[in-house]
Amino acid sequence: MRMEENRVSFEPKLLGFLCNWCSYAGADLAGVSRIQYPPNMRVIRVMCSGRVDPEFVIQALELGIDGVYVMGCHIGDCHYLDGNYEAIRKFDMTKKFLSFVGLDNRIRLDWVSASEGVRFGEVVSKFVEDIKALGPSPLSGDTPDQELLEKVKAIREAVSSNRMRALVGRQRKITEEENVYGEKVPEEEFDVLMDQAIKEEYDRHRILLALEKDSKSVKDLGIELNLDPSIVLEHTLTLKSRSQVDFQKIIGNTPIFMRI
Ligand code: FES
Repeated sequence: MRMEENRVSFEPKLLGFLCNWCSYAGADLAGVSRIQYPPNMRVIRVMCSGRVDPEFVIQALELGIDGVYVMGCHIGDCHYLDGNYEAIRKFDMTKKFLSFVGLDNRIRLDWVSASEGVRFGEVVSKFVEDIKALGPSPLSGDTPDQELLEKVKAIREAVSSNRMRALVGRQRKITEEENVYGEKVPEEEFDVLMDQAIKEEYDRHRILLALEKDSKSVKDLGIELNLDPSIVLEHTLTLKSRSQVDFQKIIGNTPIFMRI
C-alpha cells in the first residue's frame, strides 16, 4: 500500500536527447502551441539522434535519472540521411546491455517531427506515466543501490569499448554490403554475434572493475561476480591479450591478476 502511495506521489526525473531538426522543433511547437504535458523531462539538444552516444544514456542512469528518452526525425527524414538508423543500432545495443540489470524499460527511442507538437506532448506524457508506474530508479536518491551501480558502471565502460563501437559502427556495412570476397553477413547471423559480444563485454568489464579495487585470483573473481571460473579464466586471458590486465604475482600455483 505504502509502495503504491510512493509511486503515485513520485515525480520522475527524465532526460530527453532531442535532435535539433525535428524533435527539438516539435518540442518547441508544443511549447508555443501551449500544449499541456508533464514538466518532468529536461532536454538536451543534439544535432542528430545518431549523435547520442550510448555512454550518455548510461551515465544519465548512473546519476540517478529515472528515464532517458532519445528522439529524432522519422525514418527517411534525418537531415544527415542515416543518422536515425545509427540511433536505432546504438539504442538496441544499449537496451540489451541494460536488460542484464533490469533497467532496459527506463530508456525509449521515438521519432517526432517538427510539425508534431501534439504528438510530442503525448509521447512525453506516456513516458512519464510509464516511468511513474515503474517507480523511482534504484540508482536515484541518497542511497543508490551500490551493487547495481557497479554493474551499470561496467556497462558504461563496455558500451564505449573498441569492440562494441566497431560492431555498432559497421553493422549496416557488414549486413547490407558485400565484402571484398562478395560475402554479406545475414542480419540474423550478425544479431547472434552481437548478442554474444554484448554478454562477453559485460562480463569482461565487470572483471576489470573488480580488479580495479584490488588484485584477485580467477576463483575469487568467480565468487565475487557469480560467474563460472572457466568463463572468468577465458575472459581474463582475453583481457590480458588486450593488455588490460596482467599477472601481479603467483601464490602457490594460483596466478593473481591486476588491472593495468
Ligand atoms: S537530424 Fe534528426 S535524426 Fe538525424
